[in-house]
Amino acid sequence: VLKKFIFTHTSENISKFQIDYVWENAQDLEHVSYLHGNTNFNFLLFSHDKKLNNDNFLYNSLSFLVKRKLFGFIPITTFGYRKIESKYEIFQLEYSPIINVYSFLHSTLIDLGETTLMRDKITLEFPFYFKIFAKLLPYVLNRHTRIQCLEDESFRSRRVDLKSRNIYLPLRFFNVSKFNYFLNFNTKKLLNNNNNNNEGT
Ligand SMILES: [Fe+2]
Repeated sequence: VLKKFIFTHTSENISKFQIDYVWENAQDLEHVSYLHGNTNFNFLLFSHDKKLNNDNFLYNSLSFLVKRKLFGFIPITTFGYRKIESKYEIFQLEYSPIINVYSFLHSTLIDLGETTLMRDKITLEFPFYFKIFAKLLPYVLNRHTRIQCLEDESFRSRRVDLKSRNIYLPLRFFNVSKFNYFLNFNTKKLLNNNNNNNEGT
């Protein structure tokens, strides 16, 4: 069994927007390939679940695939699962089979009044041969979260703009998840088969 290394780091960034705008953006993942196109090729919504009587969040848990750009160009596909723990708090696990790296993110938002502190605690588990990069990781992670935060400010500023025009668009999914896609496909097929059977009798 190959030896594994665990690395933890906390990055902090400040958004110039109020906490609820930052929280809206934090829940949304489908903007990843648009706003963060420099670090991601594409995003695929796998499935999402919502608890009964949940009017607060768009979902409680969600799974996804992202094709990330390592060093800006190397495609690395990761599988991810995230869970909204409570308001302003998200846990997210991601695994990349090709490089055998796990990342676990604990993301929290702290209300600073007019602005918001975003705290990302990142835990990485990686094979021993990546240890040579370990010294660079705090720099890489700080840089990555800082750039993402800046890219996300446009999302938040758009929401502020809409609100100032009294346009209140609820947060929602743009894409049908792959799970629902196949569920619908199977259900429709089932209905068609039943219709055909009825016609025959
Ligand atoms: Fe983002």
